[in-house]
Amino acid sequence: MGPHPTRDDLFSFGLWTVGWAAQDPFGSPTRAPLDTVTAVHRLSDLGAWGVTFHDDDLFPFGSSDEVRRREIDRLQKALADTGLTVPMITTNLFSHPVFKDGGFTSNDRDVRRFALRKVLRNLDLAAELGAETFVMWGGREGAEYDVAKDVRGALARYREAINLLCAYVVDKGYGLRFALEPKPNEPRGDILLPTVGHALAFIETLDRPDLVGVNPETGHEQMAGLNFTHGVAQALEHGKLFHIDLNGQRGIKFDQDLVFGHGDLLNAFSLVDLLENGGPSGGRAYDGPRHFDYKPSRTEDSEGVWHSAAANMRNYLLLRERARAFRADPDVQEALAASRVSEIQRPTLGAAESYADLLEDVTAYEDFDADSYFDGRGFGFVRLQQLFVEHLLRAR
Ligand code: GCO
Ligand code: MN
Ligand code: MN
Repeated sequence: MGPHPTRDDLFSFGLWTVGWAAQDPFGSPTRAPLDTVTAVHRLSDLGAWGVTFHDDDLFPFGSSDEVRRREIDRLQKALADTGLTVPMITTNLFSHPVFKDGGFTSNDRDVRRFALRKVLRNLDLAAELGAETFVMWGGREGAEYDVAKDVRGALARYREAINLLCAYVVDKGYGLRFALEPKPNEPRGDILLPTVGHALAFIETLDRPDLVGVNPETGHEQMAGLNFTHGVAQALEHGKLFHIDLNGQRGIKFDQDLVFGHGDLLNAFSLVDLLENGGPSGGRAYDGPRHFDYKPSRTEDSEGVWHSAAANMRNYLLLRERARAFRADPDVQEALAASRVSEIQRPTLGAAESYADLLEDVTAYEDFDADSYFDGRGFGFVRLQQLFVEHLLRAR
């Protein structure tokens, strides 16, 4: 019953998501490793459109050229057989011991040079596979001890690395853009560029800010106690939503990477409403992949993995249906108008008005009745929110 995913929905999954064997810091794997070709076929059967991966997901760290090529060829055959695409790839700069103090920002210069070489090689692969986005999640770029990391120096090295990578894709003529993925902590005690806001500010200091955007992840903003929908809205407002990682998180704790919709459901609903209906004149605000970066829970066996993969897409589609119904409801339109939600679009000064004109406008100050806001002129936001909840609960 209800909506089924199609390729037009642009759902994509990391190979590391469905392929996670569920090893955690306290326990060994509960599932067997998943072969790439199987993953691609199963995702395709479920209605996904794309797969993404880290270099080390496809061929183990340190693979010979032959093994590397064989695995790339196996992937390409699976893509050709299923019609799935590779819209994004990324580099693992966090698993191997060499990256224990980070890649681009390790205190060890030799490690930084090695990290750059690993990424450059992976950029060639991204171009070969026709990916459009290159995600950079700096999970090990950080510290546990304030005195152990010169944060300003580390940010300078981060900038140096990204500037070099941008120069490389420009020189090579690759049609790639970079998306920085913020996260506040885990695995490091504190990670550099911890939130969408930090990343947006940093991007403006780069040589080619036009080539660099963000890849916000639901749980990562929520781990910092932030509102994911707000973070995504600000990224959109800056023209920087290059990619998105959808999943579920319940509050400020370790990174849960739950199924999308299995965490803060109201925030997931407002996010889908923003992505699908928040465009300048309604309609889609974001046309890129709807990428799920979740972990099938450790309690699941391999069939549970596929149920959880399907659940991500289904929850997105159900929320999209509910968001459309919400927007189409005349009572909602009336409540939105009563709450003056669209009035925020109107500039605060008139087209030709200056601050001098504002200073002369007695209705703006001298004659303005500020006291009328005491027990009057309520905004009706609670009534609006109740309608939102009732649509989510299918009570309307
Ligand atoms: C996390 C991160 C990672 C990155 C991925 C891309 O859950 O901490 O989401 O999964 O997204 O590794 O590099
Ligand atoms: Mn995560
Ligand atoms: Mn992610």
